[in-house]
Amino acid sequence: MALGLLWLSLALLGFLQTQAQDSTQNLIPAPPLDRVPLQPDFQNELFQGKWYIVGLAGNAFNKEEHSQLKMYATTYELNEENSYNVTSILAWNETCDHWLRIFIPSSQPGEFTLGNIERYIGTQSYTVRVVATDYNQVATVFFKTVYKNREFFKITLYGRTKELTHELKENFISFAKALGLTDEHIIFPIHIDQCIDE
Ligand SMILES: *[C@@H]1O[C@H](CO)[C@@H](O)[C@H](O)[C@H]1NC(C)=O
Ligand SMILES: *[C@@H]1O[C@H](CO)[C@@H](O)[C@H](O)[C@H]1NC(C)=O
Repeated sequence: MALGLLWLSLALLGFLQTQAQDSTQNLIPAPPLDRVPLQPDFQNELFQGKWYIVGLAGNAFNKEEHSQLKMYATTYELNEENSYNVTSILAWNETCDHWLRIFIPSSQPGEFTLGNIERYIGTQSYTVRVVATDYNQVATVFFKTVYKNREFFKITLYGRTKELTHELKENFISFAKALGLTDEHIIFPIHIDQCIDE
C-alpha cells in the first residue's frame, strides 16, 4: 500500500499493523517543532465539538493518488482530566466508520500526545499541535509521528462548516509550503454528506 494511504490509515483508522510500506519513497523531513506556531492562550473548552477536514497536507500525501479522498469529520470532547476524546467519522466502503483515540495534554496548552500509544504498533511518538484557531470557524492543526523509525507529518485545515473561504484555503497552502511541502502534497477532500453530518 502506498505511503499516503498508510499515513491516512495511521492517522485515521489505526490499521497500523496491517499496512505494508513502500520504504523506497523519500519523505520531506518534518520541521522541528519550534518552527511550528502554537495558538497562544489555547482554550480547550472552546475547541471542542465537530470539525470538518477541509484540507490536508503532509509528506506522505499525494494529490494524484488521493484525488478521490472523501471529506471526514473529527469531534473533540473534553474529559475531566483535560484530555480529549477524538472521534473521526469516515465514509468508508459504504459504511460509516468511527475511530476514537485520546489526546493527552503535553508540555504546553494546545499541544498533545496520543493516549495508549503502545496499542498503535510501530508508532514511536505522536505529537499534535494546534497551530491557530478562532474556535468558531477555522483551525489549523499540525501532527507529527515517528512510525517504524520514519517521520511523518501533516497539517489539517479544520472548518466548522464544509466550505471555507478562498483566503483561508490560500493561507493553508502557504503554511504547507512554509513547512517544505509542495502543491503535490496538498489535498482538499471531496464534499460528501454521508456519515459526517450525523
Ligand atoms: C471518552 O471515551 C471513554 C471511552 O470510550 C468514555 O468512557 C468517556 O465517557 C468518554 N468521555 C467523554 C467526555 O465523552
Ligand atoms: C467492503 O464491504 C463489503 C460488504 O460489506 C465486503 O465484502 C468487502 O470485503 C469490503 N471491502 C473492504 C476493502 O473492506
